[in-house]
Amino acid sequence: MITFEEGKQIFKLDTQNTTYMMGLVDDVFLGHIYYGKKLRSAGGSYRFRTDEYPMSPRYLLREKLGFFGGFPFEYPTGGVGDYSESCLDITNEVGQNGCELHYVSHHIEKGKPRLPGLPASFGSEQDVETLFIVLQDELLKVQVELQYSVFEAEDVITRCVTIRNGSEHTYRLEKAYSACLHVEKEKDMELITLAGAWARERHMDRRPVGHGKTGVSTVRGETSHQEHAFLGLVSPETTQTVGEVYGMQLVYSGNYSAQVEKNLYDIYRLTMGINGETFSWKLNAGDVFVTPEAILTYSDQGLGQMSRNYHDFMRNHLIRSPYLHKDRPILINNWEATYFDFNTEKLLDLAREAKKQGIEMLVMDDGWFGKRNFDDSSLGDWVVNEEKLQGGLKYLVDQVNAIGLKFGIWFEPEMVSPDSDLYRAHPDWAIQLKDRPVNMHRAQYVLDITREDVRDYVYGSIAKILRSANIEYVKWDMNRAISDAGSCMLPADQQGEVFHRYVLGLYDLLERLTTEFPNLLLEHCSGGGGRFDAGMLYYGPQIWTSDDTDAVERLRIQEGTALLYPLSTMGAHVSKCPNEQVGRMTSMKMRGDVALSGTFGYELDLTTMPEEEKALIPAQVENYHKYHSLISDGDYYRLHSWDSHAPYDAWMVVSKDKSEALVTFCQVLGRPGYKRILLPLQGLDASAEYILDGEDAVLKNGETVSYEGDLLMELGLLIGNSGDFSSRLYHFRRK
Ligand code: DGJ
Repeated sequence: MITFEEGKQIFKLDTQNTTYMMGLVDDVFLGHIYYGKKLRSAGGSYRFRTDEYPMSPRYLLREKLGFFGGFPFEYPTGGVGDYSESCLDITNEVGQNGCELHYVSHHIEKGKPRLPGLPASFGSEQDVETLFIVLQDELLKVQVELQYSVFEAEDVITRCVTIRNGSEHTYRLEKAYSACLHVEKEKDMELITLAGAWARERHMDRRPVGHGKTGVSTVRGETSHQEHAFLGLVSPETTQTVGEVYGMQLVYSGNYSAQVEKNLYDIYRLTMGINGETFSWKLNAGDVFVTPEAILTYSDQGLGQMSRNYHDFMRNHLIRSPYLHKDRPILINNWEATYFDFNTEKLLDLAREAKKQGIEMLVMDDGWFGKRNFDDSSLGDWVVNEEKLQGGLKYLVDQVNAIGLKFGIWFEPEMVSPDSDLYRAHPDWAIQLKDRPVNMHRAQYVLDITREDVRDYVYGSIAKILRSANIEYVKWDMNRAISDAGSCMLPADQQGEVFHRYVLGLYDLLERLTTEFPNLLLEHCSGGGGRFDAGMLYYGPQIWTSDDTDAVERLRIQEGTALLYPLSTMGAHVSKCPNEQVGRMTSMKMRGDVALSGTFGYELDLTTMPEEEKALIPAQVENYHKYHSLISDGDYYRLHSWDSHAPYDAWMVVSKDKSEALVTFCQVLGRPGYKRILLPLQGLDASAEYILDGEDAVLKNGETVSYEGDLLMELGLLIGNSGDFSSRLYHFRRK
């Protein structure tokens, strides 16, 4: 619910458990008052300290900088005396930077409008209410509309900003962030971010916040393996189950910058948006610029509640795919089974074997087009290689369908190989800087999808393949970051727009794809999990989490990813051992149990794998069918993290009505001297009695053991020591 209290000049935004408040000073300056646990009524503008000492410019114009230096601006601007990180920097027609925003008006609407060209959350008029606050710089004639959408049930507030140039001049936006938040606490807050690299994406990283700025950013042109557009500001005592957490995350798939700044008054300013370092946008007279959306949530019940807020929000209001609540077909992907060395017969052999095991879809990965037998050619030439696929693509798909499997295919649409017909015909279609040799990665260039003609070509060639056969799944890959960010098409004064235009171009392609093929199951990928973000989830319900399929490495990667994203979004496959990335041997059971908490599939050669491992597949397939809707739609609780408290890892999912729960326990290392551990569970109905069933049910005198919910949560479940790289699933049903 959103209210504006005229007398107090306070905006109050309430969700089920939180309150967000802003206030006006002198009817002019919009400042942040409070975000936290739900409050009964509007108040607290004394936070601005304008009453104890009349610092506001109305009373003390000669000390305006003193006011600007301490006022918690809701949307701080640069150039005029707020010396902390600004959200908006505008250069005017004479090249000077300065902007001061004053309140003009506001209105409240039921529902939430779409953002033109950008992915954004959505909801019905019952689910969400939106506040629009218009601010203006009177000299520049620039209007800034702050948009706040309140999702009550999920305890989420989304924010974005629309900037309009109402003058007759051309300006330049040097920075336009999506959100700012001021947190004032008598505690030394800490920052949680997600950091990593290829094959170890999104590891949780926690550090103290000292004075000055600390944060995350990328200039790679994609979300990146290395950093993530998320800030979690937490109290020192915060754990999974207790303590305060402020979460802020961006619905965007390109360059971002997000930081916390602790200022001279020990107030924390969080800011987040498109990275100003690689952004400069020409704003002609009458032009409008819309920022991506930021998703804010607050919990005083620890990190676990923040995760559940984000999971519910994404499932209810961000992911559009019709597959969201459906079981995804269990797939087998041929990448680690064959790499580039396959043909029709090999794929059909895999499909036949897969069918016997209960697998439901064959995905043909990289190498089916042009003359691509290695990673150094043919990207952009989306023409079937009939030497490999004898009989053609339609023949292969029909045969796979006849065996009883669905068929999926891999593309890397945004790329071009120097060794390709496409590049030979259109060298200017690659992103590049004038006269400078383009830097390659994996022997490839990035296509300039800021251009409409390039996008038309890319879309046309993908769509042609998809129309040619019964293809029900696409893996959309991107295997290098952007460098040399110039476009042969844009004029000199718009080259600073390349990175953002690239992301808009990508969204345009994905929108066209999902419009023409609404029932396609789309899995995003970027050299593993280099572009795992909320923006991409708007178009496809799942993302390949990492190229690292080792069951132990996956524990950290999936824990970090699940901090923000529902388990149903995490692409997870069982692969062979020794593992291709780290060479480790783990049990087939553990590989299966870890992948079960994702979209679940296989990535190995079924025709050559050890028979004793293959024999476990039918049981894993059965588990998937039994538990997948619980895993996809339930509430996620992180019980233990082997990363921070070796030697085991554990999490659970509880159905919304608390009638069933699935606990996954992975023992990474044995525990010398300990026989069994007590693992306290979470999220159960304390007053209910639960029966343990499934593979780890304990039978006593032929009877199924039952436990009381409160006992399981307070004392815990007794778990035996089962040795290195072993795992267990415990399924509970309410009696
Ligand atoms: C990177 C992906 O993450 C892999 O799964 C595979 O599709 C390769 N690209 C293919 O080039």
